[in-house]
Amino acid sequence: MQLNNKLKTKIFKFLELLPKSWGDTLYHHLQCLNSRSIFSEYNLHRSTIEKFAVILKSVNLSFEGKRIIEIGSGWLPVIPYELIFRYKAKEVLTFDINEHYQKRLLKEFNQFYSRLYSVNLTTTLPASIRYFPRTNILKSHFTNSTINAVISRNVLEHIPPDDLIKIHKQAYDYLTPDDGFIIHLISPSDHRAYSDPRISLWDFLQYSQKEWDQIQTRFDYHNRWRLPQYMQMFENCGFYVEFLSYKTAREGQKLPVKIHSDFIKYSQQELTAGNVIVILRPNNR
Ligand SMILES: C[S@@+](CC[C@H](N)C(=O)[O-])C[C@H]1O[C@@H](n2cnc3c(N)ncnc32)[C@H](O)[C@@H]1O
Repeated sequence: MQLNNKLKTKIFKFLELLPKSWGDTLYHHLQCLNSRSIFSEYNLHRSTIEKFAVILKSVNLSFEGKRIIEIGSGWLPVIPYELIFRYKAKEVLTFDINEHYQKRLLKEFNQFYSRLYSVNLTTTLPASIRYFPRTNILKSHFTNSTINAVISRNVLEHIPPDDLIKIHKQAYDYLTPDDGFIIHLISPSDHRAYSDPRISLWDFLQYSQKEWDQIQTRFDYHNRWRLPQYMQMFENCGFYVEFLSYKTAREGQKLPVKIHSDFIKYSQQELTAGNVIVILRPNNR
């Protein structure tokens, strides 16, 4: 079921008025109605992880034997399963501020995945995958130099700037200094465009922060950061960029007529950079 954006905003604004746990539960159920099939969810995530693996190989990195943190688990453990069973990671710790994994879906996913890869799965997660639901990655503590990699898919754009800085400073300490890396897929575009083709992928750039805060809610929060802001933050947190790719506006894709003054310092390429894949390595300590 695809809700139109105006209705979605009204519902999310209403949910925000409820006590937090009620709002979160109703949001979870609403999202369940909206969810894709196991097969299409699997395909979407598989194509991301395959792309990541190819890019990592091109810079002599891999997931093999690694202890990996995933930020933003989402609905199904596709990325953790692929990391463990296809890319031979040692352990995956996956964190989400929500609890979207469900027993029934996990059981179905395990059956689906067992058939696909002839692996032996029960109804729960394998021991090498540890799920931390209702846990902000920021509130977790890791011993320095004990994690080999961090991975995220379509998560950073939903995290407030101050938290992004803290998350990356924290990662700088817990990543192994010699072979540690971070790989992110970031989607800096206006997500309302995905369900409404009349809206430009950069529509939200016309608004001031105050105006945008009146439209968005905590359920569909988007920080609207442009690529140079991410790059600056990565550098400030002690990382250098090992790899970067992104897509810019294609023919026919238009920026809104009015761009808010907060964004006019950026070039068209910087404004429209989407589908950002970045690999970060910690600078020498
Ligand atoms: C758009 S979803 C993407 C989920 C999944 N990675 C995917 O690609 O389908 C973003 C997820 O990040 C989670 N999230 C946002 N901020 C987080 C944080 N600080 N720590 C852990 N998870 C977070 C949200 O709850 C949500 O499940």
